[in-house]
Amino acid sequence: MKCKSCGEKATVYMRQHHKLALCKEHFLEWLPEQTERFIKKYRMFGRDDNILVAVSGGKDSLSLWDILHRLGYKADGLYIGLGIDEGISYSDESHRLAEKFASERGLKLHVVDIQKTYGHTIPVIAEKTHRGFSRPCSVCGVTKRHEMNRIARDMGYSVLATGHNLDDEAATLFGNTLSWSKDFLPRQSPVLPESDGLARKVKPLCRFYEKEMTAYALLRGIEYIYEECPFSVGSTSIYYKELLNQLESERPGAKLIFYTKFLEAKDAGLFAPPEQIRAELFPCPTCGQPTSAEGQCSFCRMMEKVDERTSG
Ligand code: AMP
Ligand code: FES
Ligand code: ZN
Ligand code: ZN
Repeated sequence: MKCKSCGEKATVYMRQHHKLALCKEHFLEWLPEQTERFIKKYRMFGRDDNILVAVSGGKDSLSLWDILHRLGYKADGLYIGLGIDEGISYSDESHRLAEKFASERGLKLHVVDIQKTYGHTIPVIAEKTHRGFSRPCSVCGVTKRHEMNRIARDMGYSVLATGHNLDDEAATLFGNTLSWSKDFLPRQSPVLPESDGLARKVKPLCRFYEKEMTAYALLRGIEYIYEECPFSVGSTSIYYKELLNQLESERPGAKLIFYTKFLEAKDAGLFAPPEQIRAELFPCPTCGQPTSAEGQCSFCRMMEKVDERTSG
């Protein structure tokens, strides 16, 4: 197989992208060029924006930071220490890799440690709020979202970028479609506009297959954590990813079509415009972050429960 650009031996073959074959050098150029196209297409941000990239230490978010840096955007990182240490030192190792990535490139990394800031690790918060063991993923999700919004706002970032790839987005879409979620489907988007007290949220990698991101990270020599979060084993999202991979192996490109045709249908008016769907937001009386119901936001409600159960 030969590189479409230079005719040298190809390193990456993308059956799903019209059988595109590229050598290492041209693949490493192609991926950021495509990212730039999507940033413009979905009007994510410009060169003047201050971007906060949420980095988990995994291949997607570190590659995203690398790409934005190579493209000349102003992007700092945020690592959230979750205190997940079940079997492997998942959090310590991902923290180390995020720090290493930043210091080798002279980039600025903000670090928030949940235990230091709120007194407990994510598994402990999950245990206290759910009385006994439960999968901490939803507690973790609420916390990460809250902390990303908080740091973006406190530090004056206009844009918050995450490393969600096509496999992530297609699995989420699949789940939302199975239940025809009228709350989540209209809001699943590569860009969520800023609103009072909330930074704009963007997913610049949402059209790249997971295996393309793995190839990018490896070929760029980015050191990242190979392990998935130990709590993700057996999760619904991994099950949906497996189902979609089966489909993809029979029909190359199916995942991309599933996702992009959804975005097109949404643009063509499948749902009411976002202004009509978006619920009114109220500031949380405890932390000030906008929330859809009057009263405390879900994070502050959760932390209050933890405090009650810790003291009482
Ligand atoms: P996940 O929810 O683990 O699939 O991660 C989705 C995205 O959230 C990643 O690509 C990162 O941008 C961000 N993210 C996940 N975990 C962390 C973390 N511990 N600190 C900062 N950002 C994170
Ligand atoms: Fe949060 Fe796994 S529970 S990353
Ligand atoms: Zn080439
Ligand atoms: Zn709050």
